[in-house]
Amino acid sequence: MEIIHVSAECYPIAKVGGLGDVVGALPKYQNKLGHFAKVVMPAYETRFMRENEFEVVYDGWGKLGFQNFTVRIFREKTNKLGFDLFLVHIAGLTDRPQVYGYPDDTERFLAFQIAVLDWMAQWEHLPEVVHCHDHHTGLIPFMMSNCINYRKLSLVPSVLTIHNAQYQGQFGWDKLHYIPAFDAWRSGQLDWKGAINPLAAAIKCAWRITTVSPSYLDEISYQANGLETLLAQERGKSTGILNGIDNEVWDPAQDQLLHKNITIKTVESAKKANKAAICSVFNLNPENPLFTFIGRLVGEKGADLLPEIFYNALHQANGKISVLVLGSGDPQVEGRLAQLKEIFPGHYNAYIGYNEALSHQIYGSADFLLMPSRVEPCGLNQLYALRYGTIPIVRRIGGLKDTVIDIGDGGFGICHDQTSVWDVGHALGRAYDLYQDKKRVKEIRKTMMQIDHSWDKAAQEYINLYQI
Ligand code: ADP
Ligand code: GLC
Repeated sequence: MEIIHVSAECYPIAKVGGLGDVVGALPKYQNKLGHFAKVVMPAYETRFMRENEFEVVYDGWGKLGFQNFTVRIFREKTNKLGFDLFLVHIAGLTDRPQVYGYPDDTERFLAFQIAVLDWMAQWEHLPEVVHCHDHHTGLIPFMMSNCINYRKLSLVPSVLTIHNAQYQGQFGWDKLHYIPAFDAWRSGQLDWKGAINPLAAAIKCAWRITTVSPSYLDEISYQANGLETLLAQERGKSTGILNGIDNEVWDPAQDQLLHKNITIKTVESAKKANKAAICSVFNLNPENPLFTFIGRLVGEKGADLLPEIFYNALHQANGKISVLVLGSGDPQVEGRLAQLKEIFPGHYNAYIGYNEALSHQIYGSADFLLMPSRVEPCGLNQLYALRYGTIPIVRRIGGLKDTVIDIGDGGFGICHDQTSVWDVGHALGRAYDLYQDKKRVKEIRKTMMQIDHSWDKAAQEYINLYQI
């Protein structure tokens, strides 16, 4: 099958969170199954763009309302990522260093989606499926089935994967003229609660919907930032498919970014060496259990509670735990997490920012990883942690619920029910007690590391879904 993934992120070209990891891996694994999965994404001003070789496959121009824009589409020449990669360059809109966060993001992603469809509508053949990821590409299913210019694509099946329904990309009806001409009576498909809502439009128009874990599919019928009733209504065409991980990128036995590689046999000594190395960089005591949080510092992740959680834990442990945070996001949370360094020198440290290499090193050295998420559609951090021998401490929600079993139930993680300072504090206490039982920790690590979360299975599940 020829599958066209359209996304705002794709690792290693541009990654903000797990969406990038998924789109950088799923197509590769689909190709291993004998398919032709390709990725189309905006051409940002990134290192990847500067350091790789491309050929131009399309030169044209598009229209966004009353404005024209020029489009150039590049194909990465070597296919080294395991899939064909197409980068859509729109002068003045995509060519910026960041993926998101500009005041004209609506215009940027709309122009991108229009350019992708203008290009595809000129192909001599039709792909078997167009697979859209999140709201940045959410108007594609609507435009494919309704816009006059894209009639040729109207019978191509479209799939929407919801990585996170919290973000929907809404904009006002005053921008309706941005969308290429369609029969006006169909405009209701774009609407949700009085705005044009790209995620809602995709939920209505895509042929199939997937969420990135089965539990998240259940949860969004009562918690989806206002889209609950729509999602409940469209449940019939929805499936929850648990994300995998790219076992080649996240392989502790081969990972070049680790101080010492980790195998099931060497896990204790390798993790100890990695912990010593990272603790010397961050001035932490390597004899203590090392707790970490890695992620976006936003409410969904429960990050606002972290300063209090860590303050209490460090205070109570009285020098017997070490904590290392890697994250960026809400400036207030960033500030409070940075302040803790002064209160607990030698026991707490934080790297405020994004650092891919450091994230690998922390997964490879920490004893426990916290994920007190309020919302977690899948979560990849806990899957990386499992593979790197780091015991996850997670709230029972979404994908966390689907992938982590509590040690009290014969499992390998520590689970709690609420995103609250008390609940997480109690979980940290359980982790501290567990750490004292070295034999049990060793067994748990070995069990965790053997769990197979690779994309092999899920890649096939998507193929089955496309064929329905
Ligand atoms: P989300 O996509 O909601 O942020 P996921 O758990 O699916 O959450 O994926 C997060 C991904 O981003 C993981 O690969 C994680 O290691 C990475 N990540 C998050 N924050 C940082 C950071 N500050 N530095 C490096 N990697 C990060
Ligand atoms: C989103 C979700 C996260 C998920 C990721 C990849 O960013 O917040 O839970 O793992 O997408 O699907």
